[in-house]
Amino acid sequence: MREFPLTRLRRTRMQDWSRRLVSENTLTVNDLIWPIFIIDGQNKTEDVKAMPGVRRMTIDIAIKEIKEAEALGIPAVALFPVTPEKLKNAKGTEAQNPNNLVCTALREIKRNTKNIGLIADVALDPYTTHGHDGILDSRGLVDNDPTVEALVGQAMAQAIAGCDVIAPSDMQDGRILAIRSTLEDEGLTETQIMSYAAKYASKYYGPFKEAVGSAKSFGGKDKKHYQQDPANILEALREVEMDIAEGADMVMVKPGMPYLDVLKAVKDKFGMPTYSYQVSGEYAMLKAAAQNGWLDGEACMLESLMCFKRAGADGILTYFAKDVAELLKK
Ligand code: PBG
Repeated sequence: MREFPLTRLRRTRMQDWSRRLVSENTLTVNDLIWPIFIIDGQNKTEDVKAMPGVRRMTIDIAIKEIKEAEALGIPAVALFPVTPEKLKNAKGTEAQNPNNLVCTALREIKRNTKNIGLIADVALDPYTTHGHDGILDSRGLVDNDPTVEALVGQAMAQAIAGCDVIAPSDMQDGRILAIRSTLEDEGLTETQIMSYAAKYASKYYGPFKEAVGSAKSFGGKDKKHYQQDPANILEALREVEMDIAEGADMVMVKPGMPYLDVLKAVKDKFGMPTYSYQVSGEYAMLKAAAQNGWLDGEACMLESLMCFKRAGADGILTYFAKDVAELLKK
């Protein structure tokens, strides 16, 4: 090993051209997936308080925004519907309605765009009165197998409506196999599945619950009996392994920044197209600090996304996607 002063690692850092030459990772617009909240109605937007800069929007406005994202080169958007309260029930049956808000949005956005992928979540929480991702048993816990059946119905409705990528975010066992088998049986052989494979029971999802208006009570039971324990990483690898075996095309680790070790372990072990979700709470933290003048918001946004790349992400779901795409263009 050559020692100082033969090796001065600062040499290659001294000038911009040289830093660019030795840089190991790059962030481009191709790494961005933009999550969008959809509301019912016409020509309306609503601010999400806990996520400054993020707005819920009606389908007509979403189409305009998504066309802009497409023009910027963003490869895909992820749609999250805000279900009117009167359409919610304990079993979240609205999820399977082929004319529900997200299916209508998928159809209309598909008709108005050419080269941007449409991703939609599969989980019942936007549709249930209790806010859980599935159907409850007599103890008030999510009942795995009946829930998987409902998720298949939801996934099929979305796939038929034109969803390119089905993204199960519910953390039930066996749902990838069930969805994949049904897609194959129904001839939907090109629909991709991006599994929220290692999704943790995280409090960083807090602002998202405000954004989609999902209940916070959960009937007194939290999501820890189906989402993962933040203490575990070996279990995350087993989750990912199962979802790959069951037919997932892409896998995701969620949340993002506090879980970069998990992201790296998943990418290193499986070499799959691997994604990370910079979730609502992460966005809120960066925005709040920036708004207070405590952080340089733009620089920290770019730095955080580069860190996902360094850890092995093939793409990042981020509420910053459009802002970043615009910045990268400059
Ligand atoms: C629904 C879902 C959640 C998020 C994405 N899909 C919330 C949850 O599981 O409780 C969180 C996204 C975010 O916080 O930005 N299952």
